Amino acid sequence: MRIIITGSNGVLGQKLVKYCIANRLTFIATSKGLNRNPNCPDYLYLSMDVCNKLEINQVFDTLYPTHILHAAAISDLDFCEKHPDLCHQVNVEGTALLFHACQQFEAHFKMISWDLTKNLDSEYSKSKVVAQKNLESSDYKNWSLANLEQDSEIEFLFKFD
Ligand SMILES: NC(=O)c1ccc[n+]([C@@H]2O[C@H](COP(=O)([O-])OP(=O)(O)OC[C@H]3O[C@@H](n4cnc5c(N)ncnc54)[C@H](OP(=O)(O)O)[C@@H]3O)[C@@H](O)[C@H]2O)c1
Repeated sequence: MRIIITGSNGVLGQKLVKYCIANRLTFIATSKGLNRNPNCPDYLYLSMDVCNKLEINQVFDTLYPTHILHAAAISDLDFCEKHPDLCHQVNVEGTALLFHACQQFEAHFKMISWDLTKNLDSEYSKSKVVAQKNLESSDYKNWSLANLEQDSEIEFLFKFD
């Protein structure tokens, strides 16, 4: 198993990296900015904007991933309200770009979901719904969702069956 983690600087991403290191899993951690994850050595980190096709291709070509754990998102509700276009660009279009790359590599795509009963009218929630619907409407079925509210154990996120 070769895993790409997106959003490795974030709250969840940092836990995913820690789990990979503790369990000696092969992975590359990615986020938009520089590596700010104290758990992640720089040599296991590549900067990758999920809206940048070229950067996505470079990371995929480096690891030849079998699995993607997609934890990158703009998750700040207030920020999303103020910047709906950016929210859509990252949470919807960035997710779609990554999903497309997964298909080229026949890799499993796991998207970190969101309790869709919460904040239904928020830009953030709407972006997560659209991103999920795009997966559901695809012919490519090698993907799964993990709902953090239900699946609080990090280990669960590494079950891909
Ligand atoms: N936290 C919760 O309560 C909760 C609940 C349910 C679901 N979720 C979902 O779980 C996932 C992770 O949440 P979190 O709390 O860990 O979020 P977070 O702490 O806000 O982290 C988000 C990460 O996404 C990265 N990111 C933002 N824009 C990016 C871009 N254009 N390209 C690449 N990376 C980008 C950020 O990278 P930089 O820091 O480098 O900019 C950051 O590392 C999200 O999908 C969220 O919707 C979270």
